[in-house]
Amino acid sequence: MIKAVRGFNDILPEETPRWRQVEEEARKVLEGFGFREIRVPVLERTELFARGIGQSTDIVEKEMYTFSDKGGESVTLRPEATSSIVRAYIEHKLYAWDPEARLYFIGPMFRYERPQKGRLRQFHQINAEVFGIAHPMVDAEVMGVLIHLLRSLGLQGYRLEINSLGCPRCRPPFRERLRTYLEEHLGELCPDCRRRAERNPLRVFDCKVEGCQEVILQAPLLEGFLCEECRAHFGEVKNYLEDLSIPYEVNPRMVRGLDYYTRTAFEVVAEGLGAQNAVAAGGRYDDLVASLGGPSIPGIGFAVGMERLLLLLPPHPSLPRAKLFIAALGPEAQRIAFRWGFDLNREGITTMLDYCGGSLKSQMRRADKFSVPYVAILGEEEIKRGKVILRDMRKKVQKELPFSSFIEAIKGELL
Ligand code: HAM
Repeated sequence: MIKAVRGFNDILPEETPRWRQVEEEARKVLEGFGFREIRVPVLERTELFARGIGQSTDIVEKEMYTFSDKGGESVTLRPEATSSIVRAYIEHKLYAWDPEARLYFIGPMFRYERPQKGRLRQFHQINAEVFGIAHPMVDAEVMGVLIHLLRSLGLQGYRLEINSLGCPRCRPPFRERLRTYLEEHLGELCPDCRRRAERNPLRVFDCKVEGCQEVILQAPLLEGFLCEECRAHFGEVKNYLEDLSIPYEVNPRMVRGLDYYTRTAFEVVAEGLGAQNAVAAGGRYDDLVASLGGPSIPGIGFAVGMERLLLLLPPHPSLPRAKLFIAALGPEAQRIAFRWGFDLNREGITTMLDYCGGSLKSQMRRADKFSVPYVAILGEEEIKRGKVILRDMRKKVQKELPFSSFIEAIKGELL
Protein backbone atom coordinates (compact mmCIF):
# COMPACT_ATOMS: atom_id res chain seq x y z
CA MET A 1 0.00 0.00 0.00
CA ILE A 2 1.24 3.47 -0.83
CA LYS A 3 0.87 5.85 2.10
CA ALA A 4 0.95 9.65 2.20
CA VAL A 5 4.35 11.27 2.74
CA ARG A 6 5.13 11.75 6.46
CA GLY A 7 3.85 15.10 7.74
CA PHE A 8 1.53 15.54 4.75
CA ASN A 9 -2.07 15.07 5.87
CA ASP A 10 -5.26 14.26 4.02
CA ILE A 11 -8.16 16.48 5.01
CA LEU A 12 -11.10 14.10 5.02
CA PRO A 13 -14.73 14.85 4.06
CA GLU A 14 -15.82 14.99 7.70
CA GLU A 15 -13.18 17.69 8.34
CA THR A 16 -13.63 19.85 5.24
CA PRO A 17 -16.79 21.65 6.52
CA ARG A 18 -14.73 23.07 9.41
CA TRP A 19 -11.92 24.10 7.07
CA ARG A 20 -14.40 25.86 4.84
CA GLN A 21 -16.09 27.56 7.75
CA VAL A 22 -12.73 28.95 8.92
CA GLU A 23 -11.74 30.02 5.40
CA GLU A 24 -15.09 31.70 4.78
CA GLU A 25 -15.01 33.54 8.10
CA ALA A 26 -11.42 34.66 7.41
CA ARG A 27 -12.40 36.02 3.99
CA LYS A 28 -15.39 37.84 5.48
CA VAL A 29 -13.41 39.43 8.31
CA LEU A 30 -10.37 40.36 6.18
CA GLU A 31 -12.41 41.76 3.29
CA GLY A 32 -14.40 43.72 5.88
CA PHE A 33 -11.12 45.40 6.86
CA GLY A 34 -10.26 46.21 3.25
CA PHE A 35 -7.92 43.27 2.46
CA ARG A 36 -8.00 41.86 -1.08
CA GLU A 37 -7.07 38.33 -1.97
CA ILE A 38 -3.81 37.50 -3.75
CA ARG A 39 -2.79 33.96 -4.77
CA VAL A 40 0.92 33.23 -5.05
CA PRO A 41 2.62 30.09 -6.43
CA VAL A 42 3.63 27.09 -4.34
CA LEU A 43 7.14 27.13 -5.84
CA GLU A 44 9.61 30.03 -5.83
CA ARG A 45 13.29 30.52 -6.58
CA THR A 46 15.24 29.40 -3.51
CA GLU A 47 17.03 32.73 -3.37
CA LEU A 48 13.77 34.51 -2.49
CA PHE A 49 13.49 32.71 0.86
CA ALA A 50 17.23 32.74 1.56
CA ARG A 51 17.24 36.52 1.22
CA GLY A 52 13.77 37.14 2.64
CA ILE A 53 13.65 34.89 5.72
CA GLY A 54 17.41 35.00 6.37
CA GLN A 55 20.29 32.68 5.51
CA SER A 56 21.00 31.64 9.10
CA THR A 57 17.45 30.89 10.26
CA ASP A 58 16.31 27.32 11.03
CA ILE A 59 13.80 27.53 8.19
CA VAL A 60 16.42 28.30 5.54
CA GLU A 61 19.23 26.21 7.05
CA LYS A 62 17.29 23.03 7.75
CA GLU A 63 13.62 23.06 6.84
CA MET A 64 13.17 23.92 3.19
CA TYR A 65 11.99 21.55 0.47
CA THR A 66 14.60 22.62 -2.07
CA PHE A 67 15.49 20.87 -5.30
CA SER A 68 16.84 21.56 -8.76
CA ASP A 69 14.24 21.55 -11.50
CA LYS A 70 14.95 19.98 -14.87
CA GLY A 71 16.53 23.22 -16.08
CA GLY A 72 18.99 23.11 -13.18
CA GLU A 73 17.40 25.99 -11.29
CA SER A 74 17.20 25.77 -7.49
CA VAL A 75 13.55 26.05 -6.46
CA THR A 76 11.80 25.73 -3.10
CA LEU A 77 8.28 24.85 -1.94
CA ARG A 78 7.28 27.96 -0.02
CA PRO A 79 7.90 27.63 3.72
CA GLU A 80 5.94 30.83 4.32
CA ALA A 81 3.97 33.32 2.23
CA THR A 82 5.23 36.76 3.24
CA SER A 83 8.33 36.57 1.02
CA SER A 84 6.17 35.45 -1.92
CA ILE A 85 3.60 38.19 -1.37
CA VAL A 86 6.38 40.79 -1.17
CA ARG A 87 7.90 39.38 -4.36
CA ALA A 88 4.54 39.69 -6.14
CA TYR A 89 3.99 43.20 -4.73
CA ILE A 90 7.34 44.28 -6.20
CA GLU A 91 7.11 42.29 -9.46
CA HIS A 92 3.68 43.67 -10.36
CA LYS A 93 4.45 47.15 -9.01
CA LEU A 94 1.37 47.04 -6.82
CA TYR A 95 2.80 50.14 -5.13
CA ALA A 96 2.86 52.26 -8.29
CA TRP A 97 -0.50 53.96 -7.90
CA ASP A 98 -0.49 53.93 -4.11
CA PRO A 99 2.00 52.09 -1.89
CA GLU A 100 -0.74 51.15 0.58
CA ALA A 101 -2.02 47.66 -0.16
CA ARG A 102 -3.85 45.20 2.04
CA LEU A 103 -3.44 41.65 0.79
CA TYR A 104 -4.50 38.30 2.13
CA PHE A 105 -3.74 34.75 1.11
CA ILE A 106 -4.85 31.30 2.27
CA GLY A 107 -2.86 28.23 1.30
CA PRO A 108 -0.41 25.43 2.14
CA MET A 109 3.21 25.94 3.29
CA PHE A 110 5.99 23.36 3.49
CA ARG A 111 8.66 22.91 6.15
CA TYR A 112 10.78 19.84 6.77
CA GLU A 113 10.26 19.80 10.54
CA ARG A 114 9.82 16.80 12.83
CA PRO A 115 6.07 16.10 12.74
CA GLN A 116 4.21 16.14 16.06
CA LYS A 117 0.90 17.51 17.42
CA GLY A 118 0.35 20.88 15.74
CA ARG A 119 3.48 20.53 13.60
CA LEU A 120 3.30 19.22 10.06
CA ARG A 121 5.43 19.30 6.96
CA GLN A 122 2.56 20.56 4.86
CA PHE A 123 0.45 22.98 6.87
CA HIS A 124 -1.90 25.82 6.00
CA GLN A 125 -1.87 29.47 6.86
CA ILE A 126 -4.18 32.46 6.59
CA ASN A 127 -1.86 35.39 5.80
CA ALA A 128 -2.68 39.08 5.93
CA GLU A 129 -0.21 41.81 5.01
CA VAL A 130 -0.45 45.61 4.98
CA PHE A 131 2.07 47.58 2.91
CA GLY A 132 2.90 51.25 2.87
CA ILE A 133 2.06 52.41 6.41
CA ALA A 134 4.79 53.01 8.98
CA HIS A 135 2.42 54.52 11.55
CA PRO A 136 2.13 52.51 14.81
CA MET A 137 -1.67 52.72 14.49
CA VAL A 138 -1.51 50.08 11.78
CA ASP A 139 0.47 47.73 14.06
CA ALA A 140 -2.38 47.86 16.57
CA GLU A 141 -4.96 47.57 13.81
CA VAL A 142 -3.33 44.45 12.32
CA MET A 143 -3.22 42.79 15.75
CA GLY A 144 -6.81 43.92 16.30
CA VAL A 145 -7.90 42.29 13.03
CA LEU A 146 -6.16 39.06 14.06
CA ILE A 147 -7.79 38.99 17.49
CA HIS A 148 -11.18 39.85 16.01
CA LEU A 149 -10.79 37.01 13.50
CA LEU A 150 -9.82 34.47 16.20
CA ARG A 151 -12.70 35.61 18.41
CA SER A 152 -15.24 35.44 15.62
CA LEU A 153 -14.11 31.87 14.98
CA GLY A 154 -14.90 31.05 18.59
CA LEU A 155 -11.33 30.70 19.89
CA GLN A 156 -10.93 31.02 23.64
CA GLY A 157 -8.02 30.68 26.06
CA TYR A 158 -5.28 32.56 24.22
CA ARG A 159 -3.08 35.58 24.83
CA LEU A 160 -1.41 38.12 22.60
CA GLU A 161 2.30 38.54 23.30
CA ILE A 162 4.15 41.48 21.83
CA ASN A 163 7.74 42.70 21.68
CA SER A 164 9.87 45.18 19.80
CA LEU A 165 12.77 43.77 17.83
CA GLY A 166 14.29 47.18 17.12
CA CYS A 167 15.72 48.29 13.81
CA PRO A 168 19.02 48.04 11.88
CA ARG A 169 20.30 50.89 14.03
CA CYS A 170 19.68 49.46 17.49
CA ARG A 171 19.79 45.71 16.86
CA PRO A 172 23.49 45.30 15.90
CA PRO A 173 24.87 46.69 19.20
CA PHE A 174 22.44 44.41 21.06
CA ARG A 175 23.47 41.43 18.93
CA GLU A 176 27.12 42.04 19.84
CA ARG A 177 26.30 42.33 23.54
CA LEU A 178 24.25 39.13 23.39
CA ARG A 179 27.01 37.31 21.49
CA THR A 180 29.55 38.26 24.16
CA TYR A 181 27.18 37.03 26.88
CA LEU A 182 26.54 33.74 25.05
CA GLU A 183 30.25 33.16 24.49
CA GLU A 184 30.72 33.38 28.24
CA HIS A 185 28.14 30.61 28.63
CA LEU A 186 29.05 28.48 25.61
CA GLY A 187 29.54 25.37 27.73
CA GLU A 188 25.94 25.47 28.95
CA LEU A 189 24.44 25.72 25.45
CA CYS A 190 23.25 22.90 23.17
CA PRO A 191 25.34 22.26 19.99
CA ASP A 192 22.75 24.13 17.84
CA CYS A 193 22.90 27.18 20.09
CA ARG A 194 26.71 27.16 20.16
CA ARG A 195 26.51 27.59 16.41
CA ARG A 196 23.71 30.15 16.70
CA ALA A 197 25.69 32.19 19.25
CA GLU A 198 28.21 32.88 16.52
CA ARG A 199 25.99 33.20 13.42
CA ASN A 200 22.63 34.50 14.64
CA PRO A 201 22.62 34.92 18.44
CA LEU A 202 18.98 36.12 18.66
CA ARG A 203 17.85 32.65 17.57
CA VAL A 204 19.05 31.26 20.92
CA PHE A 205 15.93 32.83 22.51
CA ASP A 206 13.80 30.35 20.53
CA CYS A 207 15.61 27.23 21.77
CA LYS A 208 13.47 24.89 23.87
CA VAL A 209 16.42 22.96 25.41
CA GLU A 210 16.38 23.37 29.21
CA GLY A 211 20.03 24.37 29.64
CA CYS A 212 19.68 27.03 26.95
CA GLN A 213 16.48 28.33 28.57
CA GLU A 214 18.41 28.90 31.80
CA VAL A 215 21.11 30.86 29.98
CA ILE A 216 18.43 32.90 28.19
CA LEU A 217 16.70 33.84 31.45
CA GLN A 218 19.80 35.79 32.51
CA ALA A 219 20.62 37.13 29.04
CA PRO A 220 20.57 40.85 28.21
CA LEU A 221 17.33 41.99 26.57
CA LEU A 222 16.78 44.04 23.44
CA GLU A 223 14.48 46.31 25.46
CA GLY A 224 17.46 48.09 26.98
CA PHE A 225 19.04 48.74 23.56
CA LEU A 226 16.08 50.18 21.62
CA CYS A 227 16.77 53.53 19.95
CA GLU A 228 14.59 56.54 20.70
CA GLU A 229 12.37 56.01 17.61
CA CYS A 230 11.82 52.29 18.21
CA ARG A 231 11.03 52.90 21.86
CA ALA A 232 8.50 55.62 20.97
CA HIS A 233 6.96 53.43 18.26
CA PHE A 234 6.51 50.53 20.70
CA GLY A 235 4.97 52.84 23.30
CA GLU A 236 2.44 54.09 20.78
CA VAL A 237 1.58 50.58 19.59
CA LYS A 238 0.71 49.72 23.20
CA ASN A 239 -1.44 52.85 23.54
CA TYR A 240 -3.33 52.09 20.34
CA LEU A 241 -3.91 48.48 21.43
CA GLU A 242 -5.47 49.91 24.56
CA ASP A 243 -7.63 52.24 22.42
CA LEU A 244 -8.97 49.11 20.67
CA SER A 245 -9.41 47.29 24.03
CA ILE A 246 -7.07 44.50 22.94
CA PRO A 247 -5.40 42.85 25.96
CA TYR A 248 -1.69 42.02 25.47
CA GLU A 249 1.41 41.01 27.38
CA VAL A 250 4.92 42.20 26.63
CA ASN A 251 7.25 39.23 26.21
CA PRO A 252 10.78 40.68 26.05
CA ARG A 253 12.24 37.29 25.07
CA MET A 254 10.09 36.73 21.99
CA VAL A 255 12.27 37.05 18.87
CA ARG A 256 10.41 35.12 16.10
CA GLY A 257 12.08 32.59 13.81
CA LEU A 258 12.39 34.78 10.72
CA ASP A 259 15.02 37.50 10.29
CA TYR A 260 12.98 40.08 8.39
CA TYR A 261 11.19 41.59 11.36
CA THR A 262 11.79 45.14 12.55
CA ARG A 263 10.15 46.78 15.56
CA THR A 264 6.80 45.15 16.42
CA ALA A 265 6.63 41.36 16.62
CA PHE A 266 3.72 39.38 18.07
CA GLU A 267 2.42 35.90 18.71
CA VAL A 268 -0.93 34.53 19.78
CA VAL A 269 -0.21 31.74 22.21
CA ALA A 270 -2.97 29.29 23.06
CA GLU A 271 -3.48 26.79 25.86
CA GLY A 272 -3.99 23.18 24.85
CA LEU A 273 -1.46 23.04 22.03
CA GLY A 274 1.47 21.63 23.99
CA ALA A 275 4.93 22.63 22.82
CA GLN A 276 3.73 24.12 19.53
CA ASN A 277 1.69 26.78 21.26
CA ALA A 278 1.69 29.67 18.74
CA VAL A 279 -1.57 29.63 16.81
CA ALA A 280 -0.73 32.84 14.94
CA ALA A 281 2.22 35.16 14.64
CA GLY A 282 3.51 38.14 12.74
CA GLY A 283 5.20 41.48 12.85
CA ARG A 284 6.52 44.50 11.06
CA TYR A 285 9.07 44.17 8.24
CA ASP A 286 10.03 47.68 7.19
CA ASP A 287 13.14 46.67 5.21
CA LEU A 288 11.92 43.51 3.45
CA VAL A 289 10.48 45.16 0.32
CA ALA A 290 13.74 47.06 -0.26
CA SER A 291 15.94 44.05 0.53
CA LEU A 292 14.08 42.01 -2.12
CA GLY A 293 14.74 44.70 -4.73
CA GLY A 294 11.70 46.97 -4.35
CA PRO A 295 11.38 50.55 -3.19
CA SER A 296 11.68 51.41 0.48
CA ILE A 297 8.13 50.58 1.62
CA PRO A 298 7.22 49.32 5.09
CA GLY A 299 5.03 46.30 5.76
CA ILE A 300 3.38 44.42 8.58
CA GLY A 301 1.30 41.25 8.72
CA PHE A 302 0.41 37.98 10.37
CA ALA A 303 -0.21 34.34 9.63
CA VAL A 304 -2.65 32.02 11.41
CA GLY A 305 -1.73 28.32 11.48
CA MET A 306 -4.94 26.62 10.39
CA GLU A 307 -4.16 23.11 11.71
CA ARG A 308 -3.33 24.53 15.14
CA LEU A 309 -6.45 26.69 15.09
CA LEU A 310 -8.62 23.69 14.20
CA LEU A 311 -7.14 21.67 17.07
CA LEU A 312 -8.56 24.34 19.39
CA LEU A 313 -12.00 24.90 17.90
CA PRO A 314 -15.08 22.83 18.76
CA PRO A 315 -16.00 20.26 16.08
CA HIS A 316 -18.26 21.41 13.29
CA PRO A 317 -21.50 19.40 13.08
CA SER A 318 -21.14 17.39 9.91
CA LEU A 319 -23.79 18.30 7.37
CA PRO A 320 -26.38 15.81 6.10
CA ARG A 321 -25.30 14.64 2.71
CA ALA A 322 -28.61 14.57 0.89
CA LYS A 323 -32.06 16.08 1.20
CA LEU A 324 -33.96 13.30 -0.50
CA PHE A 325 -33.53 9.54 -0.83
CA ILE A 326 -35.48 7.80 -3.57
CA ALA A 327 -36.20 4.24 -2.50
CA ALA A 328 -37.00 2.53 -5.80
CA LEU A 329 -38.27 -1.06 -5.91
CA GLY A 330 -37.93 -3.04 -9.10
CA PRO A 331 -36.06 -2.32 -12.34
CA GLU A 332 -38.65 0.02 -13.85
CA ALA A 333 -38.90 2.17 -10.70
CA GLN A 334 -35.11 2.18 -10.46
CA ARG A 335 -34.74 3.53 -13.96
CA ILE A 336 -37.26 6.31 -13.26
CA ALA A 337 -35.52 7.12 -9.97
CA PHE A 338 -32.18 7.25 -11.80
CA ARG A 339 -33.54 9.97 -14.13
CA TRP A 340 -35.35 11.85 -11.36
CA GLY A 341 -32.25 11.77 -9.16
CA PHE A 342 -30.11 13.35 -11.86
CA ASP A 343 -32.72 16.05 -12.58
CA LEU A 344 -33.20 16.87 -8.88
CA ASN A 345 -29.44 17.11 -8.20
CA ARG A 346 -29.27 19.56 -11.10
CA GLU A 347 -32.06 21.60 -9.50
CA GLY A 348 -30.22 21.79 -6.17
CA ILE A 349 -32.07 19.02 -4.32
CA THR A 350 -29.29 16.61 -3.41
CA THR A 351 -30.72 13.16 -3.96
CA MET A 352 -29.41 9.70 -3.07
CA LEU A 353 -30.37 6.39 -4.65
CA ASP A 354 -29.65 2.78 -3.93
CA TYR A 355 -28.03 1.55 -7.15
CA CYS A 356 -28.10 -2.06 -6.01
CA GLY A 357 -31.89 -2.20 -5.71
CA GLY A 358 -32.07 -3.53 -2.15
CA SER A 359 -35.27 -4.22 -0.21
CA LEU A 360 -37.39 -1.32 1.03
CA LYS A 361 -36.16 -2.05 4.55
CA SER A 362 -32.48 -1.89 3.62
CA GLN A 363 -33.02 1.29 1.58
CA MET A 364 -34.83 2.96 4.50
CA ARG A 365 -31.96 1.93 6.80
CA ARG A 366 -29.49 3.55 4.45
CA ALA A 367 -31.53 6.79 4.30
CA ASP A 368 -31.59 6.76 8.09
CA LYS A 369 -27.84 6.17 8.37
CA PHE A 370 -27.18 9.31 6.33
CA SER A 371 -29.88 11.30 8.18
CA VAL A 372 -31.65 12.07 4.91
CA PRO A 373 -34.75 14.03 5.96
CA TYR A 374 -37.12 12.84 3.17
CA VAL A 375 -37.59 9.52 1.42
CA ALA A 376 -39.64 9.10 -1.78
CA ILE A 377 -40.90 5.53 -2.19
CA LEU A 378 -41.57 4.26 -5.69
CA GLY A 379 -42.52 0.65 -6.43
CA GLU A 380 -44.58 -1.12 -9.10
CA GLU A 381 -47.70 -0.53 -7.03
CA GLU A 382 -47.09 3.24 -6.90
CA ILE A 383 -46.38 3.43 -10.63
CA LYS A 384 -49.68 1.68 -11.31
CA ARG A 385 -51.58 4.04 -9.03
CA GLY A 386 -49.78 7.10 -10.45
CA LYS A 387 -48.53 8.10 -6.97
CA VAL A 388 -45.23 8.45 -5.15
CA ILE A 389 -45.08 8.21 -1.37
CA LEU A 390 -43.08 10.97 0.33
CA ARG A 391 -42.04 10.21 3.89
CA ASP A 392 -40.86 12.90 6.29
CA MET A 393 -38.28 10.95 8.30
CA ARG A 394 -38.19 13.40 11.21
CA LYS A 395 -41.93 13.87 11.73
CA LYS A 396 -42.55 10.22 10.77
CA VAL A 397 -45.52 11.12 8.55
CA GLN A 398 -46.07 10.48 4.87
CA LYS A 399 -48.14 11.80 1.98
CA GLU A 400 -48.68 10.99 -1.68
CA LEU A 401 -47.39 13.06 -4.58
CA PRO A 402 -48.51 12.72 -8.22
CA PHE A 403 -46.23 10.45 -10.28
CA SER A 404 -46.75 12.43 -13.52
CA SER A 405 -45.57 15.75 -12.05
CA PHE A 406 -43.26 14.39 -9.35
CA ILE A 407 -40.36 16.78 -9.99
CA GLU A 408 -42.54 19.88 -9.70
CA ALA A 409 -44.37 18.47 -6.68
CA ILE A 410 -41.19 17.56 -4.80
CA LYS A 411 -39.65 20.97 -5.56
CA GLY A 412 -42.77 22.53 -4.07
CA GLU A 413 -42.29 20.40 -0.93
CA LEU A 414 -38.54 20.73 -0.43
CA LEU A 415 -37.36 24.03 -1.90
P1 HAM B 1 5.62 31.66 11.50
O1 HAM B 1 5.68 32.00 12.94
O2 HAM B 1 6.75 30.92 10.93
O3 HAM B 1 5.41 33.04 10.71
O4 HAM B 1 4.30 30.86 11.20
C1 HAM B 1 3.02 31.39 11.52
C2 HAM B 1 2.13 30.32 12.09
O5 HAM B 1 2.07 29.20 11.20
C3 HAM B 1 2.61 29.72 13.40
O6 HAM B 1 2.24 30.51 14.51
C4 HAM B 1 1.89 28.38 13.41
O7 HAM B 1 0.55 28.54 13.87
C5 HAM B 1 1.87 28.01 11.95
N1 HAM B 1 2.96 27.03 11.65
C6 HAM B 1 4.26 27.30 11.42
N2 HAM B 1 4.94 26.16 11.19
C7 HAM B 1 4.06 25.15 11.26
C8 HAM B 1 4.13 23.71 11.13
N3 HAM B 1 5.28 23.10 10.81
N4 HAM B 1 3.01 22.99 11.28
C9 HAM B 1 1.83 23.59 11.57
N5 HAM B 1 1.69 24.93 11.72
C10 HAM B 1 2.78 25.70 11.57
C11 HAM B 1 5.30 33.15 9.37
O8 HAM B 1 5.17 32.23 8.62
C12 HAM B 1 5.26 34.59 8.89
N6 HAM B 1 5.23 34.57 7.43
C13 HAM B 1 4.07 35.30 9.48
C14 HAM B 1 3.95 36.72 9.02
C15 HAM B 1 3.09 37.21 8.08
N7 HAM B 1 4.72 37.71 9.41
C16 HAM B 1 4.37 38.82 8.76
N8 HAM B 1 3.39 38.50 7.95
